[in-house]
Amino acid sequence: MSSVPVITIDGPSGAGKGTIAQMVASHFDWHLLDSGALYRILGVSANHAGLIPAVDEASFKHDLSVNQQQNITSLATELSIEFVINPRSKEVEPLVNSVNLALQIRTDDAAQFASKVAAIGSVRDALLDLQKNFAKPPGLVADGRDMGTVVFSEAKVKIFLTASAKCRAERRYQQLINKGVGANMRALLQSIEDRDQRDQNRSVSPLVPAADALVIDSSELSIEQVFNQVIDYASEKVV
Ligand code: DC
Repeated sequence: MSSVPVITIDGPSGAGKGTIAQMVASHFDWHLLDSGALYRILGVSANHAGLIPAVDEASFKHDLSVNQQQNITSLATELSIEFVINPRSKEVEPLVNSVNLALQIRTDDAAQFASKVAAIGSVRDALLDLQKNFAKPPGLVADGRDMGTVVFSEAKVKIFLTASAKCRAERRYQQLINKGVGANMRALLQSIEDRDQRDQNRSVSPLVPAADALVIDSSELSIEQVFNQVIDYASEKVV
């Protein structure tokens, strides 16, 4: 596995990692790991199994009990997760125990569930091998929060892509409006700040740039500008 080249792209939600990771993977014709999707799948499945309350329930703000954490960790080891390409849209979609959860994992509630399960150390350990197994020839682009610091700490190229919370909320707002979905800017900003807070301050694998990562702030950059910076940097190191 160590001979397979890996490019890690970490950073907070809404910085454009997903888009850039897809573009970089298709540029090199490499595999792609969307690790956030794994945490979203587990979060949604834990909610379905009654192991996490709904986001609007008062108890959602409480820390998960040891018992809940153990049950969610067991669930992480039991789920059968497969990624398939939708022949029509060409999008990668998750089949979880043979059920397609593509739409359910992209909601804001799913993001909140994901952030909760992602703070459990034993869950992160349980998902480690699954993530490492994505590193297959000719190479892998791995998108997440701890790809460069933990999962692929030996990666040749590490990018940390960030942007201000306000800018990320505005992008999300625009995305939702373009989809014809109503959106509330204040609520979006709050949700992004809550999630950042949890992701940056958790005791296990907090969201920090790897010491050897190239940090790119995309607040004032177009997607093409970020993509070009990443490709220039990566091409020197891996090709
Ligand atoms: O990238 P995303 O929005 O799909 O991630 C969903 C949540 O999962 C986010 O709150 C952080 C968490 N996550 C993580 O802790 N580690 C990763 N490698 C990827 C995502």
